[in-house]
Amino acid sequence: MNLILKITLAVNLMLFGCLSSFAGDVSIKITKKYLNLPVSQKENRSKMTFETDGKQERTFVIRLAGDAPDYWVFADVSALKGKTIKISYDGNPDGLAKIYQDDKKADEDTFYKEKNRPQYHFTTQRGWINDPNGLIFYDGEYHLFYQHNPYEREWENMHWGHAVSKDLVHWQQLPEALYPDHLGTMFSGSAVIDYDNTAGFNNGNTPAMVAFYTAATPDKQTQCVAYSLDKGLTWTKYDKNPVIDSKAKWNSVDTRDPKVFWYKPGGHWVMALNERDGHSIYTSKNLKDWNYESHVTGFWECPELFELPIDGDKNNTKWVMYGATGTYMLGSFDGKVFTPEAGKYFYSTGDIYAAQTFTNIPDSDGRRIQIGWGRIQQAGMPFNGMMLLPTELTLRTTKEGVRLINVPIRETEQLFEPVHQWKSLSSDDANNKLKEFYAADRLRIKTTIKLSHATSAGFNFFGQRIIDYDMNGNTINGVFYSPQDRSSMELTADIFIDRTSIEVFIDGGIYSYSMERKPNNDNKEGFHFWGNNIEVKNLEVYAVKSIW
Ligand code: FRU
Repeated sequence: MNLILKITLAVNLMLFGCLSSFAGDVSIKITKKYLNLPVSQKENRSKMTFETDGKQERTFVIRLAGDAPDYWVFADVSALKGKTIKISYDGNPDGLAKIYQDDKKADEDTFYKEKNRPQYHFTTQRGWINDPNGLIFYDGEYHLFYQHNPYEREWENMHWGHAVSKDLVHWQQLPEALYPDHLGTMFSGSAVIDYDNTAGFNNGNTPAMVAFYTAATPDKQTQCVAYSLDKGLTWTKYDKNPVIDSKAKWNSVDTRDPKVFWYKPGGHWVMALNERDGHSIYTSKNLKDWNYESHVTGFWECPELFELPIDGDKNNTKWVMYGATGTYMLGSFDGKVFTPEAGKYFYSTGDIYAAQTFTNIPDSDGRRIQIGWGRIQQAGMPFNGMMLLPTELTLRTTKEGVRLINVPIRETEQLFEPVHQWKSLSSDDANNKLKEFYAADRLRIKTTIKLSHATSAGFNFFGQRIIDYDMNGNTINGVFYSPQDRSSMELTADIFIDRTSIEVFIDGGIYSYSMERKPNNDNKEGFHFWGNNIEVKNLEVYAVKSIW
């Protein structure tokens, strides 16, 4: 045998040995609701497949823990009861033997009690979340679907997770709504109620909740439809999906995030869809066949388009169009073409991303309610990301013209209990008063500061700059800000602190921002107003209830 042949054989043996030890399968007859799976961030991601009756039922990637898991995740298999699942794994198979079924999710008793669990913001029980999807009010309930990786605290395997609430404050997590399929993973989208059965999905008097989502593969993104007749619990995907495949037209993989709404004056459906370099408008009579109408460049991901009264006057409205960063244009819309007239402006900056507004809010309510994804790391937790506080969007005439105003919805008020209010303090006094709150994991603080000698002033929390106002340079935390009263020396802030996040609403929501709460442990100064001779004109502290 020559040397080369020997080496090849040896390499083959090594490879073969290696491959066979890095793949495996196990079969489990399902008698319980959940399969609990151990995860270790040290392991590589590898493909796992569930097969029943020789057919692939689910496939995803997971870092299955070979030895001690960092945390456990769960897969709801209640729909497969009585069947035998063959679980195949392409990676280190040592963890396969640890997978077990149970009627409880692993560690369920510790859910919402974790050290870094946000206390008044929605987070998911396990895994990663990003964009809110399919925000819709129906039959007394608000539905929050969301981009979800149920199997790891990082982005992958996009599903639509699902939660419901009666008040937009307290949420109940429900089973996954949309699972990846042969067309791709489930990227962002929206939902409507098809009261007039335009799509033909309704069942007698039960109108279908119809969802629009992007099915994504690495080289293509198409728009698809699914419907639910049981309030979003179970979904049927339309058998002629995808309904829009526009990759070739745009010579781009980036065609995604359909936002659909009913356009009453035209009696048709409208879809705003991000395609390559902006938002396109499509129309439809039946939610299945879509006609391309127009395109506005200058937006990236997650389109929104809605009409709002100016200063509350229903006879004087503008349309708002925004993308994932929230920068918006104001304009007019005739059902087919959005004509930009002003903007782009911003109303909120920081960690907010991919915000969406609710559809199907009753006319008697009439609010435009928004939820944004908070790009906040939940350090060391088996879950990651969060939803920011729900806010109401309105249009108001300001000294610069009509602008979008953003304030937490009134339902959030039930969370806050006033503890103290002080007027007209020096910064030293204010800092002393706040000492008793250093250890609070959550708090709401309303304050008005007045500058006199200083050109800049602000408010720190253990070294983190919650407010850094430069009156001279006209910036707040580095972003341009000019108060409505041009000669004002005052600034008002409504500050919402949770365990891992901070949201700040300036001067009644004319500007807002959000950030990760990152206290510097070496810094001992606690809450700290700063600025030469500033007056803390108003200081209110509220205790915050937990929503869990
Ligand atoms: C925005 C986004 C969307 C996409 C989704 C994927 O955060 O990139 O455009 O649909 O996230 O998770």
